[in-house]
Amino acid sequence: VPDLEILETVRWRDGVVRILDQTRLPAEEVYLDLATTAEVVDAIRRLAVRGAPAIGVTGALAVAQAAAQIGGHSAPEWIARVQESARVVAEARPTAVNLRWAVDRVVSVLWRAAGRGAGIESLQGLALDEAQVILAEDLALSAAMGRHGAQLLPEEGRVLTHCNTGGLATAGGGTALGVVFEAVRQGKRIFVYADETRPLLQGARLTAWELQRAGIPCAVLCDGAAAWLFRTSPIDAVLVGADRVAANGDTANKIGTLSVALVARAFKVPFFVVAPRSSFDLSLADGRVIAIEERDPEEVLSWQGVRSAPEGVDAWNPAFDITPAGLVSGWVTERGVERPPFAETPETEA
Ligand code: MRU
Repeated sequence: VPDLEILETVRWRDGVVRILDQTRLPAEEVYLDLATTAEVVDAIRRLAVRGAPAIGVTGALAVAQAAAQIGGHSAPEWIARVQESARVVAEARPTAVNLRWAVDRVVSVLWRAAGRGAGIESLQGLALDEAQVILAEDLALSAAMGRHGAQLLPEEGRVLTHCNTGGLATAGGGTALGVVFEAVRQGKRIFVYADETRPLLQGARLTAWELQRAGIPCAVLCDGAAAWLFRTSPIDAVLVGADRVAANGDTANKIGTLSVALVARAFKVPFFVVAPRSSFDLSLADGRVIAIEERDPEEVLSWQGVRSAPEGVDAWNPAFDITPAGLVSGWVTERGVERPPFAETPETEA
């Protein structure tokens, strides 16, 4: 693999949150400078920036931005106002726990420092520092997951993936796709089957774009083709990401993941989830209470403004599903390949 520059999926630039607009890929590489909380929330909602770790980093930067823009007289009153903006950011999308986790992390730094007597100006600096730490950590997490996951792949093999879990979905190299990048970097010869990922085509538009950019051979397939792929070709592993993992291992990820997991089990193909611990929500015993985002039916009924279903027909458009833990062979995190019950405190750091 050529030593590719890490994608600048989300960055801080002089008071603005700069994102690579993923709605325009693969046709155009356009960056958006998001100047207000409302602009960041809109970008997250319409998937201009997407993928669980990437929206976490974006959310943290949005809180730092709100902190820089909001004025106040006393620290507690000021934090309460920042916290109100933070709440709006955290609620932009409900399923990926990384968003709430990152936003809460920045807000709690503010309360702790205010408790030690810090003034508003220094709190504004601390908010940005914490958001930048979250971004930097995300880069390191991708590398650690890549190293642990690459060991699961053979010297030469074929992998199926769903949705986009690469550099576009994180601040670093990626989760599931990051494992492929690392394996190929180590000299392994990996062919990737990329589910197109209806209805917004993250697989066809984004995963195929990232793989092509890295010179890794791949084929896009319709989501419904996985069973026939497993039936007709030897597939070594399925690698997917996660938006939220419950304490028992139930895993929310892009709609269609459950179908892949069921079919993988039927054909005895190992099915791995690759996700940083920031995607784990150990406060939930199992996946039953994970909120599943339902999106605009129009996403299913038309593509880029061109209607594909008859006028007047309705659609059901859940953005995620939950794969029961029993269908997952292992969870690749920055700590290694884990299985429930997941340890609360890290044994080794990334
Ligand atoms: O709706 P999206 O595109 O944000 O959904 C993204 C996914 O489901 C990814 O698989 C998940 O966030 C893991 S990404 C590292």
